[in-house]
Amino acid sequence: MSRIAYVNGRYVPHRDASVHIEDRGYQFADGVYEVCEVRGGRLVDERLHLDRLERSLRELAIAMPMSRKALGTVLREVVRRNRVTDGIVYAQVTRGVARRDHFFPVPAVKPALVVTAKSLDRARGAQLAEEGIAVVTVPEIRWARADIKSIGLLPNVLAKQKAREAGAREAWFVDQDGFVTEGGSTNAWIVTADGALVTRQADSRILRGVTRTVVLAAAAAEGLRVEERPFTVEEALSAREAFVTAATQIVMPVVRIDGAPVANGAPGSVAARLRQIFHDHAEIGSGRESVGA
Ligand code: PDD
Repeated sequence: MSRIAYVNGRYVPHRDASVHIEDRGYQFADGVYEVCEVRGGRLVDERLHLDRLERSLRELAIAMPMSRKALGTVLREVVRRNRVTDGIVYAQVTRGVARRDHFFPVPAVKPALVVTAKSLDRARGAQLAEEGIAVVTVPEIRWARADIKSIGLLPNVLAKQKAREAGAREAWFVDQDGFVTEGGSTNAWIVTADGALVTRQADSRILRGVTRTVVLAAAAAEGLRVEERPFTVEEALSAREAFVTAATQIVMPVVRIDGAPVANGAPGSVAARLRQIFHDHAEIGSGRESVGA
């Protein structure tokens, strides 16, 4: 099956999909993105992802490339055309194409929109969650606006590559005060020895994960005590559990940090429970819709 991408108004075969060399995303990382889970062919938490996309764009003074409704239709159509049942849909919006100049283009150019989708192996994710993952820690070197879902991901790329080279799957950024901010592409959580669920407050130093928002709701429904505050690597190492969340991972237990085990080195029951009930608390969209082949 050939893969299909949406690029600036057209559905094109993946191999032919391209953007202009002076797209400001390519030149300046002047753009934002969203990754939305697809489950059973349906979008998970589309509303929250589009809310965050609008916010990221607003923070950078980039216009929405089309209405929310039209964008939702494009997301679903790319999922449909790629026959993705379980996986993700990726949307990227950049300020558009203009001769290279740091200043915003005057007059403004049309924002560029690219949407792709890919399948992920749900069973593999479940298996990983049974085993738990390792993380390594890296110094926080990102800019102070990690709340914007910018396509400028070089520190995240370097951090995650470092994790891979150490045999881990994720890297946790640690700020100058010794507190974990978040993962390279996930939010970070612990369950303390006395049973409190802790994750950093959603300030400008972290991305307010959609999965994080839904897990907070799930935790409240479970009657768990939640503390939105920073935690240190030492606290995580002496915690009962640790885990990460993202649209690509749902809830993924962390069993080693920099080679040292978290608790007994096995995934914990709180993470397992939150993973199990996550989709009961998420908004699952309506089924595939077609806008014509
Ligand atoms: N990453 N923090 C960072 C830095 C992220 O890149 C992500 C998501 C998250 C979790 O956000 P959410 O729960 O909305 O997926 C937190 C996506 C999945 C990615 O870059 O692939």
